Amino acid sequence: TDALKIGIAGLGTVGASLAKILAERDNMLAIACGRAIRVTAVTARDKTRDRGVDLSNAQWFDNPIEMAKSADIDVFVELMGGAGDPAHAAVEAALTRGLHVVTANKALLAAHGVKLAALAEEKGSILNFEAAVAGGIPVIKALRESLTGNTVSRVYGIMNGTCNYILTRMEKEGLSFADCLKDAQRLGYAEADPTFDIEGNDTAHKLSILTSLAFGTEIAADDIYLEGISNISIEDIRAAADLRYKIKLLGVAQKTDSGIEQRVHPTMVPRDSVIAQVDSVTNAVAIESDVLGELLMVGPGAGGNATASAVMGDIADIAKARPGAQVAPALGRPAKSLAPYTRAG
Ligand code: HSE
Repeated sequence: TDALKIGIAGLGTVGASLAKILAERDNMLAIACGRAIRVTAVTARDKTRDRGVDLSNAQWFDNPIEMAKSADIDVFVELMGGAGDPAHAAVEAALTRGLHVVTANKALLAAHGVKLAALAEEKGSILNFEAAVAGGIPVIKALRESLTGNTVSRVYGIMNGTCNYILTRMEKEGLSFADCLKDAQRLGYAEADPTFDIEGNDTAHKLSILTSLAFGTEIAADDIYLEGISNISIEDIRAAADLRYKIKLLGVAQKTDSGIEQRVHPTMVPRDSVIAQVDSVTNAVAIESDVLGELLMVGPGAGGNATASAVMGDIADIAKARPGAQVAPALGRPAKSLAPYTRAG
């Protein structure tokens, strides 16, 4: 079988980690997938930075849309971020051309995910996005595949590594919010615009994707009640501790009598609960469903390697897929029996 040719759009924290891991593990991946995976095209704003990997054999593009339209690739890997263009136009162009797409871009999916998923289905392409929610935790796979046949009643969790990292260090070391945020940025956890992390938008993007998968509804990120952590002080954290609670930024989606309720806000969780033990950049996602019961997944939620691991798994799935094989619908198969969204709060 021919090598699977991939183009990586964006060589930031995640893209650089991915390129490096793919190069280091080429043999292992070829054996696991039954074919080689080769990076044949890349785009990056900074072409001179040393990323610790030799990409001189790849074709370098200035424009990701150009790469999507004309590069010699089978898979377009979108790691640029941002809900608008060029990410949106590039992914659309790639799917239109019949390429498979792997993306870690939760903002893009929250805004355009259902349309892009429909386009992928129409073209017989695979659209994978495991890395878009909770970094390396295989939560998309759980909802799309493992829990097939279950009826989900609730999905909730800690889905932003930056916020959890900040809250943990404020609690344990008494550090200021601003200092913790700076460290989260330095470690490559935060979004390009960290407002999206601390104001809860990033959690809302991720939650809206999980909601769509869990309940078969259209994505409705704008319907989410939203409150971030920028107003949480050390005093709040101490007051919660006195009552044997911790403060965590949770995203929650659940079925209620009046529809699907979605909310994101700082939440007091009992100190002895499992979710309270999930600290630092670690994420946790709980899924309650009728056949399985409660599933709780805990793992690295942000950072180059954790996110690249999920992207690598998505690419490997494409390498292993038989041409023309039926793939699980990506997003937003509206389930007509469900009542519309309700806005909590
Ligand atoms: N900024 C995100 C976070 C990155 O902190 O969780 C992972 O999506």
